[in-house]
Amino acid sequence: MHRITILTLFPEMFESLKHSIIKRALDNNLFEINVVDIREFSKDIHKKCDDYPYGGGAGMVMMLQPIVDAYKSLKIENSKFIYASPRGKIFNQKMAQEFSKYDDIVILCGHYEGVDDRVIDILGAEEVSIGDYVLTGGELPAMVMVDAIVRNIEGVINEKSLEDESFSNGLLEYPQYTRPEVYEKISVPDVLLSGDHKKIDDWRFKQSLEITKQNRIDLFNKFVVNNFKLVKAKERDYETLCNYKRQSIFVFDDVPKQDYDKINNYLKTSFKKLIKYFQMIKIKDITIGCVGVRDFEDGVLLDEIWVDSDYRGNGIGSKIIKDILDKHNKVYLWVYKKNTKAFNLYKRLGFEIKEETNSRYKMLFEK
Ligand SMILES: C[S@@+](CC[C@H](N)C(=O)[O-])C[C@H]1O[C@@H](n2cnc3c(N)ncnc32)[C@H](O)[C@@H]1O
Repeated sequence: MHRITILTLFPEMFESLKHSIIKRALDNNLFEINVVDIREFSKDIHKKCDDYPYGGGAGMVMMLQPIVDAYKSLKIENSKFIYASPRGKIFNQKMAQEFSKYDDIVILCGHYEGVDDRVIDILGAEEVSIGDYVLTGGELPAMVMVDAIVRNIEGVINEKSLEDESFSNGLLEYPQYTRPEVYEKISVPDVLLSGDHKKIDDWRFKQSLEITKQNRIDLFNKFVVNNFKLVKAKERDYETLCNYKRQSIFVFDDVPKQDYDKINNYLKTSFKKLIKYFQMIKIKDITIGCVGVRDFEDGVLLDEIWVDSDYRGNGIGSKIIKDILDKHNKVYLWVYKKNTKAFNLYKRLGFEIKEETNSRYKMLFEK
């Protein structure tokens, strides 16, 4: 059984933990919580546990002796020792999952100005913070951590619920609804009533992506750059590819009407033959761009790399290009002079200008 031991000056605060799912886990012996009152180990006649800081300054500091003796009384040999501290690494779902694997976890709650720093070395403590703010004591942080850790202990929560939750797959969770179907004229989304599980999964995934992008761009960027895949373009991707090609040509150039027609004609005729050199960039089933590479002169031509604007700025493009540069000795490309962003990226990646027209540079990367 997993055991979580709390070292605190305020043991009574932990009574509030014992409710709902956590209480059920305790009742089912899935884990045990052991709250130890540090004060009982004080050798001072008044049970004092704090003292003035060396070097002066405001507030009091928790003394080592009662804490160390409280820990030693546990006679635990191998434990994960956590000191709740605003200086620590920020607690997250991954840590909660990791900590849930330990048989024995000890959490030290500081109070006042904190604890004598030597406790970290003496007890091998890892400092863990629950966020960038300062609380009066470590009891609430300890409860937050216990709750998040216990949810990840096998048997406490249905495995499927854990898989779908925010952070578990790197994204925030999709919106959830329950009865009634309509409340004050607001209905739950139709797709959830369709009974079509594939459609429901796709909708939820898109919602997760959207919510993560809106609220946590850091997580979104990390997710997309680690989860995109390249899939060989098929006949059915033709229209999407034409659109990407049109956008990449027309966004940066003031294309005269006759050229516009010429390009559309090219897309209708010659371009179709090139589709076999293209790959679609996808996140799950969602197409977010394309890349095309084909033989050219004495090397290959990076014919096109396009990433939808919603998915830019997270390194997908450079990751794909670096991969191409790894595989080939000579890579050519054409870039519009007006597209300074792409031009600068290619320069950074080691491309050099080989030729130029009025509007474009021909660039070469050579190993
Ligand atoms: C008032 S705080 C001490 C803050 C300390 N003087 C500092 O500036 O870093 C008292 C205790 O509350 C706990 N605590 C406060 N904020 C915390 C946070 N964000 N995460 C974890 N523990 C925290 C710690 O155990 C700490 O020892």
